[in-house]
Amino acid sequence: MKNVAILGSTGSIGRNTLKVIKNLKDFNVSALFGGNNISLLTEQAEEFKVEYVGSFFEKNKEELKKKLKNNFKILIGHEEADFIYENSEIDVIVIATAGISSYKALIKGLENGKRICTANKETLVAFSPILKKKLKSLPGELVPIDSEHSAIYQILSKAKRNNIEKIIITASGGPFYNRNDLSSITPKEALNHPTWEMGKKVTIDSATLMNKGLEIIEASVFFDLGCEDIEVIIHPESIIHGMVEFKDGSIISQMSIPDMKIPIQFALTNPDRENFPAKRLNLKDISSLNFKEIDQKRFPLIPLCYKALREGGTLPAVLVGADEVAVDRFLKGEISFKNITDTIVKVTKSHKINKNPGEKEIMEAINWAREEARRLM
Ligand SMILES: NC(=O)c1ccc[n+]([C@@H]2O[C@H](COP(=O)([O-])OP(=O)(O)OC[C@H]3O[C@@H](n4cnc5c(N)ncnc54)[C@H](OP(=O)(O)O)[C@@H]3O)[C@@H](O)[C@H]2O)c1
Repeated sequence: MKNVAILGSTGSIGRNTLKVIKNLKDFNVSALFGGNNISLLTEQAEEFKVEYVGSFFEKNKEELKKKLKNNFKILIGHEEADFIYENSEIDVIVIATAGISSYKALIKGLENGKRICTANKETLVAFSPILKKKLKSLPGELVPIDSEHSAIYQILSKAKRNNIEKIIITASGGPFYNRNDLSSITPKEALNHPTWEMGKKVTIDSATLMNKGLEIIEASVFFDLGCEDIEVIIHPESIIHGMVEFKDGSIISQMSIPDMKIPIQFALTNPDRENFPAKRLNLKDISSLNFKEIDQKRFPLIPLCYKALREGGTLPAVLVGADEVAVDRFLKGEISFKNITDTIVKVTKSHKINKNPGEKEIMEAINWAREEARRLM
């Protein structure tokens, strides 16, 4: 039996992880951590009879105590969450939190030899210069949940590294890929993703293609690759999630219906595979699969993310900080859709890159970018 802790259990990936674990006989949910949705967190804790329940926010302590009917060990804030990362009874940590809050969970979990299944891309991107150096020496196992990275991970597990020409990650293009006028888009329209059901931030990032840009940097961390090794291609059906091209011209792809429960389940069970008791891909239902090049002029966040990967240092962290604030303002109806991209581009232009940052400098760069984005908006 493997004991699992889920950080961000109340979000889209967290809820899907619980659905997956319900159908896996060898996995037990031991710990759940959420943010502010205490009602859902307590429901989940009661249903899965977990041992530990926590909120990352101090202000939720009393409400959590009041709402829980049974006896649970309650952990509050990032300091108390350390207990989970260091606890030898926990085998797997699923990181399903939003934003840049999961760096400590990632590092401490890996230091303690755990399997870390992470969906969270902002942390991987912001801390990419440090993680690229650190990851190789940590005893734990880092497994991607993001569908594109899961696809590449599955293909590369059977490949010799020096046979790889490049990896190719697919992008649905989001809801506006073919729309000419991007200025009048409302939050409601942008939240309506054509193929995936996700949290609000990642859905907006998908519409600006920032999500795909972040995924390029995320791939460089997971697979230790450079700019020239990572290609992105538009594939509107979201059936092929990732491909690897080899030296001899062969391309191997991974396909499934667009359902995050599939890569979540694989992250938990690999190298084994378990039955997936939901809709599956039926190739006879697909009349065609389409691919086209990304229009980098209309979606400048793609070349900007390639630049951030090339330059490294604090630039990826600045992208993450500026994007976080701009998306939040757009969702509140305070700026236009186009303003998200414009703000991120402007913030990165005025940033002086620190080429060799430590954790403190990366946090400072994120905070600087948040402030600069607010000032510009
Ligand atoms: N959703 C997808 O299908 C998908 C696919 C691929 C990758 N991802 C990535 O996975 C991550 C999570 O995405 P999501 O769509 O699941 O997000 P989400 O639905 O917004 O859920 C975020 C979770 O994080 C918690 N949270 C919010 N702010 C936090 C903070 N400052 N510190 C710690 N926890 C916090 C939330 O708690 P409360 O709700 O209780 O406040 C919730 O449990 C993102 O990095 C995203 O890019 C998501």
